[in-house]
Amino acid sequence: MSSTFAIQGLGFYAPARILTNADLVKFVDTTDEWIITRTGIRERHMVAPGEVCTDMALAATHMALDNAGLTAKDLTHVVVATVTPDTSVPSAGVVLAKKLGLEGVPAFDLNAACSGFVYSLEAARGLVALHPEARVLVVGAEVLTSRTDWTDRGTCVLFGDGAGVAILAADTPANKGARLLDMQLAADGTYGPLLTIKGGYSGHPYKIGDVVGHENYVQMNGREVYKHAVRSMCAICETLLARHGLTPEDVDVLIPHQANLRIIEAVGKKLRFPDEKVFVNVDRYGNTSAASIPLALAEARALGSIKDGQLVLIATFGGGFTWGSALIRF
Ligand code: UT7
Repeated sequence: MSSTFAIQGLGFYAPARILTNADLVKFVDTTDEWIITRTGIRERHMVAPGEVCTDMALAATHMALDNAGLTAKDLTHVVVATVTPDTSVPSAGVVLAKKLGLEGVPAFDLNAACSGFVYSLEAARGLVALHPEARVLVVGAEVLTSRTDWTDRGTCVLFGDGAGVAILAADTPANKGARLLDMQLAADGTYGPLLTIKGGYSGHPYKIGDVVGHENYVQMNGREVYKHAVRSMCAICETLLARHGLTPEDVDVLIPHQANLRIIEAVGKKLRFPDEKVFVNVDRYGNTSAASIPLALAEARALGSIKDGQLVLIATFGGGFTWGSALIRF
């Protein structure tokens, strides 16, 4: 079979509720100026009370299905990348499949932190390679605000909620869409302690009556993560490009993980991408973890920032550490 895969549809969703920097200033010791100069973030979306991860995933999936001219019944597998599922059990994948009216379709979650969507694309490539008739729903969806420590100004200004979706299938003439050409993934647990969510898991279980502490939320050594993020995303993009005899000049659009505008600019500069080739939406969504890449990819396509025939390079980075790159021809 072909070593390339079809991306048949893209979709994204962000909750209607918006939390601006001015809103944050009312209850966090920060300023609009600090947040903009250090991160580029102006606002982020936040779920409404009762709105859960799979609600956002469902909305993004409907957009991707419409986009591809498919219905939910065409889907054969559901993979959800998330660190904030509605519940630990059942998984977001199974809940989402149920919401889509799918019965008997394999569904599961994958956790690679912010790199989860790109890791899930790799899992989907494996599924399609094994089952050439497969059509895999690949989702990145996060309610990061549910794991945000609003007393920690070093992290709480960064995160937002959202979802993005791609549908992956075999590269055949019948399966219209973009082509996923290749990918490269990496992980290194040495740096795990620099970015964590510990509370409620087997390393930090809660007993009835325990007070939920800071460990229940994202804890990060921002400065260290920043350095590794830039270095790792650049290196893994160079590896992937070199494998195909390509240089940054051959790429039309760079979609980097949307964590911080300064990281995005540093990656673009180091890889020698002019600003106009680098897609940015972190200013409007903040860091949406596993949703960041598919939300940016789907929005860039919807806005016309990615045109037919163009080559797109994806760079992702997240806790673990995990990182990766992907090449897509639209
Ligand atoms: O998605 C996974 C990957 N995650 C990332 O890529 C995030 C990587 N890290 C970052 O984006 C940046 O490191 C941050 C945005 C988190 C922080 O920016 P920074 O330039 O590294 O600032 P810093 O942590 O070194 O803090 C500088 C100063 C400190 O004050 P002092 O010690 O110099 O007096 C902080 O206390 O800024 C202070 N500070 C704030 N001030 C106002 C930290 N957070 C805030 C805040 N408002 N929200």
